[in-house]
Amino acid sequence: MHIFKNKTDLIQFVDGLKSEKKTIGFVPTMGALHQGHASLIVKGLKDNDVVVVSVFVNPTQFDNQDDLEKYPRTLDKDVALLKDISKEKIVVYAPSVDDIYGDNVSSTSFSYDGLEHEMEGRFRDGHFDGVGTIVKRFFEIVRPDRAYFGEKDFQQLMIIKKLVEKYHIPVKVIGCKIYRAKDGLAMSSRNMRLKPNYRMAAPFIYATLKAAKEQFGTKSANKVTEWVKHQFAKHELLELEYFIIADVDTLKTVKRKSNKKTYRAFIAVYADDIRLIDNIALN
Ligand code: PAF
Repeated sequence: MHIFKNKTDLIQFVDGLKSEKKTIGFVPTMGALHQGHASLIVKGLKDNDVVVVSVFVNPTQFDNQDDLEKYPRTLDKDVALLKDISKEKIVVYAPSVDDIYGDNVSSTSFSYDGLEHEMEGRFRDGHFDGVGTIVKRFFEIVRPDRAYFGEKDFQQLMIIKKLVEKYHIPVKVIGCKIYRAKDGLAMSSRNMRLKPNYRMAAPFIYATLKAAKEQFGTKSANKVTEWVKHQFAKHELLELEYFIIADVDTLKTVKRKSNKKTYRAFIAVYADDIRLIDNIALN
């Protein structure tokens, strides 16, 4: 398996693939790989000749230093998982912060037509500037035909689609279904940091989303939102940061339901000091 630590070598390798007319899939990750990542990579392998997987904990998308420091870094394990999927067709790019940012670890400011001001953008200062900066840089280095993003980070997926559109980046952005543990918890690298009692409590998040979806058939968005807030207020371990029912095109909170629009419910919850997000399609 090819594992690149610096962009110059990867760029040369990609040049070779391009000259052989090989198609390239790209799965950007921050490592601590799990079955959710594996499902994106397997999809990438079906659609492309080669899949580049980046493993990089991007400092500019964290607004919380403690979260950045505690983010799991498990490159050897990650490589083992990738080798189990395919030694020949997967290429790893695991750069250092220096290889990506040099001595200027900062992000560019992006406008995503307002998508960046909702939900995660409101609660995580500068997050989507950091994401846009790193993903754009990766696209320039990897030059993929297709790039795969999980719907767990639905807002991120929309923002990447907007980035590609605005900057005319020739890559097809493909959203992939949320991969869940058997008990319903959405797969996330952060799950491995949950203490056992919090891990046991965490499926409550998806269970509540499913119940909210059912209620949304007959109740107003406001009523459902109040109900969800109440469920979390009663919960002993999980602390709700936000629950929002939004229009999928604008990500703006729904005021009045319309049967011409498509809605999704989004949630962010603290389990101890670990922030978990999830979402569900409502109609
Ligand atoms: O979703 C993630 O893991 C990150 O936001 C990404 C896309 C790899 C950029 O650092």
